[in-house]
Amino acid sequence: MTRGQINLIVPQQFSYTPPEPDERQPRIADLLAVQDMSGIEKGLDWLDETDAGQPYQVLDIGCEYGAGTQRRFGGDGRFQVTGLAAGDDESEYATNHHASPNTTYRVGDFEEFDSLSATSFDIVFAAGLFSKVADPDTILERVWDLVADPGVLLIREFEDSQHLHYPDNEDLNVAIVATGNTPYKSSRQYGRKLYTRMSNHLDPTPERVELDLQTYHTAGKSREERKQYWDVFHANRIQTVLERAERDNASDSTLEMADYLERAMARAKEEFLTDDEFLDAVTVPLGAALKHSNSGTDADQ
Ligand SMILES: C[S@@+](CC[C@H](N)C(=O)[O-])C[C@H]1O[C@@H](n2cnc3c(N)ncnc32)[C@H](O)[C@@H]1O
Repeated sequence: MTRGQINLIVPQQFSYTPPEPDERQPRIADLLAVQDMSGIEKGLDWLDETDAGQPYQVLDIGCEYGAGTQRRFGGDGRFQVTGLAAGDDESEYATNHHASPNTTYRVGDFEEFDSLSATSFDIVFAAGLFSKVADPDTILERVWDLVADPGVLLIREFEDSQHLHYPDNEDLNVAIVATGNTPYKSSRQYGRKLYTRMSNHLDPTPERVELDLQTYHTAGKSREERKQYWDVFHANRIQTVLERAERDNASDSTLEMADYLERAMARAKEEFLTDDEFLDAVTVPLGAALKHSNSGTDADQ
């Protein structure tokens, strides 16, 4: 197996349309940086107990415009990094705006996996990828195949099931239900499955699986922090519905739904940003799995 080198299939017709690069992406990376870095440090601790050597080959799948990749791994000599996104524009933007000497950005359709199968990485990181693919369980198996032995898989996902807010907000409720009903591309229901799937669905069975479930909320946050929170956890949730409405063949009901949701989201945002006492909370799971087939007695400790 080759380490850290990939031949990728460049998607001809890729169905995920990333949002335009804007200030949101670095803010997402910032808000979730502590959780991401703590997962990465755990992975490093695990790898330190093996014979894997630095610099560790890292694959950041679904790196979008590179802000998160740079924040997590950029310029850190412990890592040699490949950031992978599905869109040309994502990779080009990342190369121009989030370059680091240890990082290369590539374009590729991860669902066209075959060309990747001869490659392995010491650390595979994926944030927000599984809510965007049609068959997350299959993708999870493929991602696991990319992890070297020994190696570490880190996955951070969104999860709406533990979302709460008070006072009740019908507009936000409707938008959250709409996100859940969107078959994939913006579904936020894989996070709840991460721990179980990583524990019982992978071959070889991971030597260790751990889950870091963090709660984020708006209590005591400044207006600017509320805006950041909104951008991270809500702003993008009806994107897929809006994209469908822009298609030439969009049905009347799709157009009506998009129009309704757009107005509902605008109202919810207004209330969210201006009412300092409005509480919103979500949990974010980050799963970590260690592949170490020949761990012998050491890993049993
Ligand atoms: C929500 S963004 C991820 C955000 C980013 N990881 C972060 O940390 O904020 C989803 C990413 O997944 C990528 N993606 C979705 N499906 C993909 C596929 N089949 N192959 C490769 N990348 C894919 C998109 O190109 C995009 O970069």
